[in-house]
Amino acid sequence: MPAHFTEEDFQIHRTLDSIPGNWSAKTEAPSNIALIKYWGKKGLQIPMNASLSFTLSRSKTVTQAEAVRSNSGSEKITFKFYFEGKRNKQFEKKIQIFFKRIEPYAPYLNHFEWTFRSKNTFPHSSGIASSASGFAALAKIIIQLEQYLFPGINRDFLAYKTSFLARLGSGSAARSTASGIQIWGKHESIPGSNDLYAIDFPFPLHPDFHQMHDWIFLLDTATKTVSSTRGHALIDNHPFKPGRIQSVKKQLDKLSIALQQGDTETFGQIIEEEALTLHALMMSSHPAYILMKPETLDMILKLWNFRKQTHAKLYFTLDAGANLHLIFPQKDLQNAIAFAKQFPEIKIIKDEIL
Ligand code: DP6
Repeated sequence: MPAHFTEEDFQIHRTLDSIPGNWSAKTEAPSNIALIKYWGKKGLQIPMNASLSFTLSRSKTVTQAEAVRSNSGSEKITFKFYFEGKRNKQFEKKIQIFFKRIEPYAPYLNHFEWTFRSKNTFPHSSGIASSASGFAALAKIIIQLEQYLFPGINRDFLAYKTSFLARLGSGSAARSTASGIQIWGKHESIPGSNDLYAIDFPFPLHPDFHQMHDWIFLLDTATKTVSSTRGHALIDNHPFKPGRIQSVKKQLDKLSIALQQGDTETFGQIIEEEALTLHALMMSSHPAYILMKPETLDMILKLWNFRKQTHAKLYFTLDAGANLHLIFPQKDLQNAIAFAKQFPEIKIIKDEIL
C-alpha cells in the first residue's frame, strides 16, 4: 500500500540558503478521461466521491517556465502566462487563485518572477479537458523546482505532492500527473486511496485492458455553457445527492473487479451508466442544464444498435460536454473503424491509454 501523506507533510517550513538568479524548465502532462466521474466537491477541492480515470497518451499540455530571481521579495507571485503564443489573462486569473492556494506548500515560488508558455497537442476547444493537463503541467514544474532547491527528497513523496498541488488547481488534474489508471478520492476497498492526491490503480490489471483506445468524436467544439466548477456546486443541494454517493461507490467496486478479471462487458456497462448518470445529474440540477447535443444521443443509439448487431466491444463515455469518447480494446480496432464509417463528416481525435 502506498505511503499516506497529510496536508501537513506537504507544507514547507525550511528556508532557502541561496536562491538561484534564474531557473527554467520544460515539462508536459497528459489529459485524462474519467470513467467513474468526480462530480460534486466539499471544502477546498475535496471530492464528494472517488473517481477513476484512464490517462491519455497523445493529448497533452506542454509548458515551459522561466524564473528570474525577484528583488522585490513580493508577497504575491508575479507571473505572465502565454497560451499558444498569446498572453492569456483569463488563465492568469485561475492560476493566481491556484498560486494562492498552494502558497504553504510551495513558498519558494515567491522568490521569482515567472513567465509560463503553454500549448496543447490537441486542438483548441476540442472538448478535451485542458485544465487537467494544464494544471498537472504547472504542478510538475513547481515540483521540479522543489527538487532543485531541496535535493534528496523522496521520489514517491514528490510524485504524490505533484498530484496534490495539481488538485488545488483543478480536481481532475490530480489524475493527470502520472500515467495508467488513476484513482483519486477515498474509497474503502482501494488501499491507499485518499482525497488529497491520486494513486495508481493498486491491483493487477487484466491483460485485456492493456491496450485501450479512446476515440473522441468532436460533436461540439464550442465553450461549455456551464463550467464544471459551477456544475460541482449545483450538486450541493441536489435532490439525488445521497443516492449518487451510495451508487457511485458500488459502481467503482464493480469497475475495479471488472478491470482485474478482464470482464469487458461489465466494464462497458458501468462506464456507460456512469456517463449517463453524470448528464442526468446535470439535467436534474437546479437550474437544470443540458450539455449533450442531439448528435450525442443519435451516436449513442447508433452505437447500441451497432453493438447489438456485431457484439463489438465498443463503449462510450462522456465528459462534461457533448463529445462522445469511444472506448475499446485493441482487438476491436476494426470494429471501431467500421462504426466510425457511419459518421464520415465528424472529426475524430484518436487517442490511446498511456
Ligand atoms: C465531468 O476537475 O474540471 O470531467 O475541480 O472545479 O476544476 P474543478 O473541476 P474539474 O471537474 C471534472 C469533472 C468531470 C469528471 C472528471 O473528470 O472526473
